[in-house]
Amino acid sequence: MTTRNFHRQTFWLIAAGTFVLLLSLSLASPASAEHPLQETEKYCLSCHGNQDLRMTLPSGEGLSLYISQDALDHSVHSSKGIECEACHTEITTYPHPELKYETGRELSRAFYQTCEKCHSVNYEKAQDSMHAQAAEAGNLDAPICTDCHGAHDVRPPDEPRSLISETCRQCHAEIVDTYRQSVHGAALMADENPDVPVCTDCHGVHNIQDPRTSQFRVAEPELCAGCHANEELMKKYGLSADVYSIYKRSWHGVDVSVYKAKWPTIWHDSAVCSDCHGIHDIRSTDDPQSKVNPNNLLTTCQQCHPTAGPNWTDAWTGHNEISLERTPALFYVEKFYTSFTPFVLWTCIIYVALQIIRATVDRVRRNLP
Ligand code: HEC
Ligand code: HEC
Ligand code: HEC
Ligand code: HEC
Ligand code: HEC
Ligand code: HEC
Ligand code: HEC
Ligand code: HEC
Ligand code: HEC
Repeated sequence: MTTRNFHRQTFWLIAAGTFVLLLSLSLASPASAEHPLQETEKYCLSCHGNQDLRMTLPSGEGLSLYISQDALDHSVHSSKGIECEACHTEITTYPHPELKYETGRELSRAFYQTCEKCHSVNYEKAQDSMHAQAAEAGNLDAPICTDCHGAHDVRPPDEPRSLISETCRQCHAEIVDTYRQSVHGAALMADENPDVPVCTDCHGVHNIQDPRTSQFRVAEPELCAGCHANEELMKKYGLSADVYSIYKRSWHGVDVSVYKAKWPTIWHDSAVCSDCHGIHDIRSTDDPQSKVNPNNLLTTCQQCHPTAGPNWTDAWTGHNEISLERTPALFYVEKFYTSFTPFVLWTCIIYVALQIIRATVDRVRRNLP
C-alpha cells in the first residue's frame, strides 16, 4: 500500500466519522431537548386552532374540528413530544385524504385504533372484554379507549381515585350512584380513601368480563378476602378479619369451595358474600338499610330459605365463633357436646376393654384342670 493511498483512506475515514457524528447529534438533539419542537402541531393548529372550524359528515351530523391548545398542553402525550401525526398517520398536509367513515361514532371507532401502536397490551386486553363483545353484537355505544380517556386531553386516569367511578358513570350512572351511597363508595367520595374498592378493583379495567357468570360468582369470596382477610387493614377500621375464614367453614362456604374446585361452570345457589351484603349497595352492618342488619336479616335469608322463621336467624352464628356472650344457649350446647361426647366414648372403650378382660379370664379359668 502506498503512502498516498493510506492518506486518502484516512481522509475518508475521518470524513465519514464526522458525518455520522453530526448526523447523530442532529437526530438526537430534538428528542433529548426538554421541550420538543411541536412543528406539526403548529401547522395543523393553524387551521384547527380556529374555534369556528366545522364540517358536515356524510351522515349529515355536524362536527367541530377545533382542537384546543389548552387541552393539548394538559395531555400526557404532548409533554412526551407526541404530536398530531403520531396518531393521525394518514394526514400530513391539506387537502386531507378521503373520509373513511360516515358518522361521528364511526370516526371515533376509526381513529381510536391508533392507540394500539403504543399501548398494544391494553389494546389486546380490550379486545375480549365485555365491552368489545357488546360492540361486536352491534352496540356501537360500547366504550373504546377515547370514551374513557379522551383523545386530545388524555390525563392520568386514576388521579384523583374517584375519577375512575366518574369515568364509568357516563354509561352506568345508576350503579355508580348506588355505589356512592355504599360503605365503600362513601369512604372513597369523602376522602379519596385508598383502602376501599373502586369499580376497577372488582371488575378489572381493560378486560372487564361478565360478572354474572358462575365462575365470577364462586371466585367472589376470595375477591372480598383480598381486603377483608387482611388483619392489618381491617384493624384500621375496627372490623373482624375472620369473616372469610369462618365463612369458609360454614355450610355456604364449603358448598362454594367445592363447586369452585370441581365444577366452576355449574351455577350453585349457596350464599356468597354479596347474596347477604349486597353488591354496589353494601352497607355497614349497623346501618338500618344494611341487608344484614338484624331488622332485615330474616328477609335476606328468606331469598333462598323461604320457610325460615325468626328462630332460624337466632340460631345462626354468622361470622362469629360460638361464644358465651353472643350465643349463650349454643355455647352451652356446644360445651355439653364437647365434654359429653368424649365421656360416652371413654365409657364405651372401658366397657369393651372390661368385657375382653372378663372373657379372657373366663377362658383361662375354664381351661384350668
Ligand atoms: C389548511 C387548513 C388545514 C390544515 C393545515 C389542517 N387541516 Fe385538518 N381539516 C381542515 C378542514 C377544512 C377539514 C374539514 C374536512 C376537509 O375539508 O377535508 C379538516 C378535517 C380534519 C379531520 C377530520 C376529517 C378527516 O379527514 O378525517 C382531521 C382528523 C384533521 N383535519 C386532522 C388534521 C391534522 C392532523 C393536520 C396536520 C397534519 C391538519 N388536519 C391540518 C383544514 C386543515
Ligand atoms: C394520542 C393520539 C392523538 C393525537 C396526538 C392527536 N389526535 Fe386528533 N384524534 C385522535 C382520535 C382517537 C380522534 C377521534 C376522536 C374521538 O374519538 O373523539 C381524533 C379526532 C380528531 C379530529 C376530528 C374532530 C374530533 O375532535 O373528533 C381532528 C380535527 C383532530 N383529531 C385533529 C388533531 C390535531 C390537529 C392534532 C395535533 C394538534 C391531533 N388531532 C392530535 C387522536 C389523536
Ligand atoms: C406514539 C405513541 C402513543 C400513541 C399513539 C398513544 N399513546 Fe398514550 N402514551 C404514550 C406515552 C409515551 C405515554 C406516557 C407513558 C408514561 O408516562 O409512562 C402515554 C400515556 C398514556 C396514558 C396515561 C397513563 C398513565 O399512567 O397516566 C393514557 C391513559 C394513554 N396514554 C392513552 C392513550 C390513548 C387513549 C391513545 C389513543 C387515542 C394513546 N394513548 C395513543 C404513547 C402513545
Ligand atoms: C371503560 C373505560 C376504559 C376503556 C374503554 C379503556 N380504558 Fe384505559 N383505563 C381506564 C381506567 C379507569 C384506568 C385506570 C385504572 C386503575 O387505575 O384502576 C385506565 C388505565 C389506562 C392506562 C394506564 C395504566 C396502564 O394500564 O398502563 C393506559 C395506558 C390506558 N388505560 C390505555 C387505554 C387504551 C389504549 C385503551 C383502548 C384499547 C383503553 N385504555 C381503554 C378506563 C378505560
Ligand atoms: C361509553 C359507555 C360505557 C362506559 C364509559 C363504560 N361502560 Fe361498561 N358497558 C357499556 C355497555 C354498552 C355494556 C354492554 C351492556 C350489555 O350488553 O348489556 C357494558 C357492560 C359492562 C359490564 C358487563 C355487565 C353487563 O351489564 O353487560 C361491566 C361489568 C361494565 N360494563 C363495567 C364498566 C366499568 C367498571 C366501567 C368504568 C371503568 C365501564 N363499564 C364504563 C357501556 C359503558
Ligand atoms: C366490591 C366489588 C365490586 C365493586 C367495587 C363494583 N362492582 Fe360491579 N359487580 C360486582 C359483582 C359481584 C357483580 C355481579 C352481580 C350479580 O351477580 O348480579 C357486579 C355487577 C356489575 C354490573 C352488571 C350487572 C348489573 O348489576 O347491571 C355492572 C355494569 C357493574 N357491576 C358495574 C360497576 C361499576 C360501574 C362500579 C363502580 C361504581 C362497580 N361495578 C363496582 C362487584 C363489584
Ligand atoms: C380493596 C379492598 C376491599 C375489597 C375488595 C372489599 N372491601 Fe369491603 N371494606 C373495605 C374497607 C377498607 C372497609 C371499611 C370502610 C369504612 O369503614 O370506611 C370495608 C367495609 C365493608 C363492610 C362494612 C363493615 C361494617 O360493618 O362497617 C362490608 C359489609 C364489606 N366491606 C363487605 C365487602 C364485600 C362483601 C366485598 C366483596 C364483594 C368487599 N367488602 C370487598 C375494603 C374492601
Ligand atoms: C349468609 C349470609 C352472609 C354471608 C354469606 C356473608 N356474610 Fe358477612 N355478615 C353477615 C351478617 C349477618 C353480619 C353481621 C353479624 C355478624 O357479624 O355476624 C355480617 C358481617 C360482616 C362484616 C362486618 C364484620 C364486623 O367486624 O363488624 C363484614 C366485613 C362481612 N360480613 C364481610 C363478609 C364477606 C367478605 C363475606 C364473604 C367471604 C361475607 N361477609 C359473607 C352475613 C353474611
Ligand atoms: C343465595 C341463597 C342463600 C342465601 C341468601 C342464604 N342461604 Fe343458607 N343455604 C343456601 C343453600 C343453597 C344451602 C345448601 C342447601 C343444601 O346443600 O342442601 C344453604 C344452607 C344453609 C344452612 C345449612 C343447611 C340447612 O339447610 O340447614 C344453614 C344453617 C343456612 N343455609 C343458613 C342461612 C342463613 C341464616 C341465611 C341468612 C343469614 C342464609 N342461609 C342465606 C342458600 C342461601
